[in-house]
Amino acid sequence: MNKLLLIDDEEDVRYSFQRIFISPEIELTTASSGEEGLRLIPKVKPDLVMMDVRMGGMSGLETLRRIRQADPRQLVILMTAYGTTQTAIEAMKLGAYDYVLKPFDVPKLQELVANALRAARDMKQVVSYQPLLETEDYELGIVGRSEPMQHVFKLIGQLAASDATALITGESGTGKELVARAIYHHSHRSQHPFLAVNCAAIPEQLLESELFGHERGAFTGAALQRIGKFEQCNRGTIFMDEIGDMTPATQTKILRVLQSGTFERVGGNQSIKVDVRVIAATNRPLEQAVAARQFREDLFYRLNVVRIHLPPLRERKEDIRLLVNYFLRKLPKDPAAPLRSIAPSALKALEKYHWPGNVRELENAIRRALVMAKGEAILVSDLPAEVIGQSATAGSAASIAAPAAEGGASETAALARQLFQIARRDPKLKILPTVERELVIQALKETEGNQVHAAKLLGVTRATLRKRVEKFGIQREFSIK
Ligand SMILES: Nc1ncnc2c1ncn2[C@@H]1O[C@H](COP(=O)(O)OP(=O)(O)OP(=O)(O)O)[C@@H](O)[C@H]1O
Ligand SMILES: [Mg+2]
Repeated sequence: MNKLLLIDDEEDVRYSFQRIFISPEIELTTASSGEEGLRLIPKVKPDLVMMDVRMGGMSGLETLRRIRQADPRQLVILMTAYGTTQTAIEAMKLGAYDYVLKPFDVPKLQELVANALRAARDMKQVVSYQPLLETEDYELGIVGRSEPMQHVFKLIGQLAASDATALITGESGTGKELVARAIYHHSHRSQHPFLAVNCAAIPEQLLESELFGHERGAFTGAALQRIGKFEQCNRGTIFMDEIGDMTPATQTKILRVLQSGTFERVGGNQSIKVDVRVIAATNRPLEQAVAARQFREDLFYRLNVVRIHLPPLRERKEDIRLLVNYFLRKLPKDPAAPLRSIAPSALKALEKYHWPGNVRELENAIRRALVMAKGEAILVSDLPAEVIGQSATAGSAASIAAPAAEGGASETAALARQLFQIARRDPKLKILPTVERELVIQALKETEGNQVHAAKLLGVTRATLRKRVEKFGIQREFSIK
């Protein structure tokens, strides 16, 4: 359950919030003044506060100052009408998470709230990294007893006790973000904010402004000043994910923040000093990016002072059993259903598989199996086809009937990220056409050239398949039926 506290002196706004945020996952409390809001916070313990900037009685800015004094991690989003945006920008300097303009664009508002709630959860939900006892229910933790994971735990402990920059490497889904959060939660900065920035998800031109902010008019579209994550996160920790994806200009700025704690907003000349710890992560071998001159060597060495490498799951198969038990307890299930277990044969199948999507893929496989399982135990037939070594065409009835949703989508996402790794190693390889061609070829091979079956396997019509076969010039390789 996510708790949302709205502080606004206008009854209309409180009413519309009640309508917009009517959801079983959100518990909304409202207050009509800053004073009332401050009184409610210790009782409600909201995950997120949404507050009007201009209110009768205590001003929004003053209320924000007091909220943040009591808990610098409390996320606050300011709401402002056009005339008062300058106040909202001031509020960002005081550590507000974001601001929105009134009147609201409802879908945007909902998205902003969802993102903020996620950030709040990341800050509050402590990630433990001591080997978990099997009885400790529901605690969020990094599970693993294998030798390499014990080494990882040791490094987390050392990093938590220091203020050093850290670089976390490892394939997709190996737990890099989880490790970053564990370091934060156990560091002396744990009472200050933790903000995550995914450098690959933000368009290159915008990343610099996202991190460092910009002055008004710094570039087309920069109608207002903007405060960046580094300024917002003062005294806290920034998690920079996918650090390999930055422009040279941004890399230079990051290097300077790391060396001197100072930067300028984009288009600005005032030097701003911050105290922020940087934890970076990448699933791309940075050494190669350095060799290809895409990544600054000096920045690489600065980040690489302490490195935590997360080995792929296939190299620590002894952790699979622990992880499975952990996910069986952690993942949501029907509360009335009996405690789930797993059949030894199913566990064996999980231990045999090579897990290209690592722990994330395993988590999704268990999530899906919990939906599929009819009885108390997860059986081999509840597992995804690729895990039990069947091609999709020969899949069991259970796997064909599986909801294509979640599991499938995130598995293909993991696969896509792996393909990008291949593409980065070989820049001449045009990955999309290559993959498309290969999919068609393999589908035809698997179905012995039966176009109807191959088209079905690919999820396209027969006409589309025929066009691809022609386009790729592969008709002669198969005796097409
Ligand atoms: N050792 C572990 N114990 C428990 N859960 C784990 C472990 N490792 C990963 N997970 C879970 O697996 C999922 C993926 O982990 P995470 O997001 O940290 O991976 P990542 O390395 O950041 O992946 P990507 O490179 O794709 O961003 C998360 O749900 C996380 O909680
Ligand atoms: Mg990640």
